[in-house]
Amino acid sequence: MRSIHVALVGLGFGAEFIPIYLHHPGVASLTICDPDDRVLQEWGNRYQVERRARSLAEVLAASDIDAVHLVTPISLHVPQTLAALAVGKHCACTVPMATRIADLQAIVAAQRESGKNYMMMETQVYGREFLFAQQLVESGAIGKLQFLRGCHYQDDEGWPWYWKGLPPFWYGTHAIAPLLALAQTRAEKVHCFGTGTMRAELVQQYGNPYPMETAIFRLAGTDIAAEATRSLFHVGRDYQEGFYVYGERAVYEWPQVAGEEPVLFRIAPLEGLKGERGRPVTAERVRVPDYADRLPAEIRRFTTASVYDETNPHLSFLQGGGHGGSHPHLVHEFVQSILEGRPPRIDAVTAADWCAAGICAHESAIRDGALVMTPRFDEG
Ligand SMILES: NC(=O)c1ccc[n+]([C@@H]2O[C@H](COP(=O)([O-])OP(=O)(O)OC[C@H]3O[C@@H](n4cnc5c(N)ncnc54)[C@H](O)[C@@H]3O)[C@@H](O)[C@H]2O)c1
Repeated sequence: MRSIHVALVGLGFGAEFIPIYLHHPGVASLTICDPDDRVLQEWGNRYQVERRARSLAEVLAASDIDAVHLVTPISLHVPQTLAALAVGKHCACTVPMATRIADLQAIVAAQRESGKNYMMMETQVYGREFLFAQQLVESGAIGKLQFLRGCHYQDDEGWPWYWKGLPPFWYGTHAIAPLLALAQTRAEKVHCFGTGTMRAELVQQYGNPYPMETAIFRLAGTDIAAEATRSLFHVGRDYQEGFYVYGERAVYEWPQVAGEEPVLFRIAPLEGLKGERGRPVTAERVRVPDYADRLPAEIRRFTTASVYDETNPHLSFLQGGGHGGSHPHLVHEFVQSILEGRPPRIDAVTAADWCAAGICAHESAIRDGALVMTPRFDEG
């Protein structure tokens, strides 16, 4: 297979991926899909996309379309993913894969049954800060991993209806995925507390009383614990999706304020200690490389801030720079995994592990911090 036909479904955040698919050398054609005709025509005209569909059913009925990328509201992820796999299409889906364990299991089973690729498009593990941290871990610069911490603070007042009162860890992957990806394992068990007060109106939809949750996970097969904290309402913190890596030799900390650079602490070797109390530690702000060189030349520019399509020189839509330049990396991994006939890096089992950690954390919070064991998905 040298190229594939792709459909992009849901053109809110999803519109950011239009020019990337249009320019990816492994994509033969792009179909865009949204039931909102104004949105569909606006994006279609702006990027001169000929193939436009008003429903997923139309996309799934098109026999030449190989793969769909879903960027639709959360409650649609499960039925749409199952529908795409059922008709033999590869499926990428934005986060979260699902918000119930049974649905994660259903998608893992459907993926196996179909033999097609499933990939969850987790932006945090393809951002340049993550790719840099991954190099620090793999090169040994961090030393033995001792602890990991992740966070995602966001104020979701005024967002579409399905966000209203959402349990924080049902959308926990941005805080949790980098930790599990760096440790290359799953969360085995979790204790989590809900914290703070949420106004009654927000509790109704999901029965979730917590604006914020904080969880501590034991990572399977390791001696490492990882902590993650997530807020969605009633917390006066500016937006942040970050992670912190604590190793025996060095520590990598996410910048406190957006726009700053991350900090790398390095501690002197034990051998140098000659009777003093504690070892010297250096702190350095690090300029993280962009990693666009890992991408085909045609889509490298989509890792950086303002992206304009040459056919639309007056475009004012900024994209790509958000989420650490991850969008073209995600598209590339999804497309290449299909072309190369291999599972994508964030396959169904990996995605289920990352989402299950958050779902189990919320269950623990509802039970006032009780121990919750996470299910396995790799034993089907
Ligand atoms: N960093 C990230 O990974 C990240 C960031 C933002 C959003 N998201 C995810 O992306 C998804 C979409 O977010 P959003 O802010 O664009 O949401 P949104 O609700 O603003 O827009 C979703 C779009 O999907 C369309 N849509 C609705 N029903 C549809 C259907 N049945 N078939 C096809 N399209 C349909 C809507 O018309 C709309 O254009 C959410 O699930 C969210 O979790 C992920």
